[in-house]
Amino acid sequence: MKKFTVGIFTFLLFSIAAIAQNGTSFYATMDAEDAISFKALYPNEMQILDSKDNQAAVFLSEEVAHKIHDNVRTHGPGYIFRASEEKALLALNKVPRRNSVIDFTITEDILVNECLDLVNGQNIEDNILELQGYGTRYHTKSQAVQAVMDQQAKWDDMILASGRTDVHTRIYNHVNTPMPSVILTIDGADTPDEFVIIGGHIDSTTFGNKNDAPGADDNASGISSLNEMVRVLLVKNFVPSRSIEVMAFAAEEIGLVGSAEIAEEYANNGVQVAAYVQFDMTGYKGSNSDIYITTDSYNSSQLNDYLTDLMDHYNDSGAHSFTYSFTQCGYGCSDHASWADNGYAAAFPFEAAMGQDNPNIHSSGDVYSFFNTPDHAVKFTKLGLEFLIEAAKPRTLSVDDFSENAISVFVKDKTLNYRLNNTVSNVKEVSVYNVTGQRIISEEMNDEAGSIQLQQFAQGFYIARFTLENGHAFTKKFILN
Ligand code: BES
Ligand code: ZN
Repeated sequence: MKKFTVGIFTFLLFSIAAIAQNGTSFYATMDAEDAISFKALYPNEMQILDSKDNQAAVFLSEEVAHKIHDNVRTHGPGYIFRASEEKALLALNKVPRRNSVIDFTITEDILVNECLDLVNGQNIEDNILELQGYGTRYHTKSQAVQAVMDQQAKWDDMILASGRTDVHTRIYNHVNTPMPSVILTIDGADTPDEFVIIGGHIDSTTFGNKNDAPGADDNASGISSLNEMVRVLLVKNFVPSRSIEVMAFAAEEIGLVGSAEIAEEYANNGVQVAAYVQFDMTGYKGSNSDIYITTDSYNSSQLNDYLTDLMDHYNDSGAHSFTYSFTQCGYGCSDHASWADNGYAAAFPFEAAMGQDNPNIHSSGDVYSFFNTPDHAVKFTKLGLEFLIEAAKPRTLSVDDFSENAISVFVKDKTLNYRLNNTVSNVKEVSVYNVTGQRIISEEMNDEAGSIQLQQFAQGFYIARFTLENGHAFTKKFILN
């Protein structure tokens, strides 16, 4: 036994020395059977450190990594980068699922349907073409960094135009790639510490020349779908109850590097992520059904059920109808696996049944003209909006009777007039909500008294919310006649 261990140890030492000579090597986890086959093909460039269930922790050269990765075109094995030997070995053990902070209800029909009506395929097409126009977004190339900076600028422009101060972006710099990720946050109005997150990778790759990696379907399509969701939410002035984050990840194609660093940091900081949904490849319709929910074991079946409930509810018939079915990736094939790895509920709705997806990914042929329509991506954008609005929920409006004396209102000629009775602070904003709780108008104010025109709204019962400069808010019920 001892002799055997020593033998193995010497063998390991020698082989690792051999790997080191061949340039950079790194730790990863991958399917155990695939690890054995690749080890047989490249005995000097790869080590299997340990394996458990059907996963193996490996140390491998970049050359072998590329060989493994390129196999995915026929849906072969992938690997997940691990920053150290310890992390690779730890990843073999299942992380316990965190408690879900979400109730998964469907209650926001009016707002969701209004948002679905606003989804615009042209924006998605323009955005895919813009991203493929970088030529490459391979994580070590300057164009990849540029694409991330431009993505941030695009969001910042949208935020500026909306006038919102509760929406922000930040660049996330990584340890294991020169490419940064970028994150957009919409602060939750009620429970800002609970996060509903969607994301996709903005990098691209090819099995060949890394300068020619247009990555239109993989994954300009997913990023463009996310951008259209954000645009619609801002147009509708959606203020969520929970915080929403939208993430464009760096370096997914070399083993989920960007998302792994971010998800790990969230877990280390104890951040409550209610749910994570990945958008990677939304452009090419290769199967009979439209959206394929992946049912791999690391995905949350509860979250998958929620996504199918949302589609049953919103996309079963009418203008926004589409179909769905189920498939499996077979391994941690995209960034959602980083979130699952850290115990969070994760899901990955995909463009086709596995094996019928876009055959041109990871090649110079992954261009928009191959699918040439945004129609498929539009469906993912709709599902994403349904998920974000229903999971994060609109800000709750409490009608507080204690505010009776703080402010006086009267309605005349379809105009709501107000006056603060105790002028400690000015009114900063007036919003009006209809009986379904939907905010129908919102105006910035800066006075102790004023008025808001409501001519365009029907007769009925409404609630006005007055937010003061000092942060206090009062509500008043009123009838418009
Ligand atoms: N978009 C692909 C994932 C994919 C490809 C899913 C084909 C389903 C069918 C993704 O960008 C990718 O290439 N992932 C790698 C794994 C990753 C850990 C490097 C893969 O699938 O090998
Ligand atoms: Zn991808």
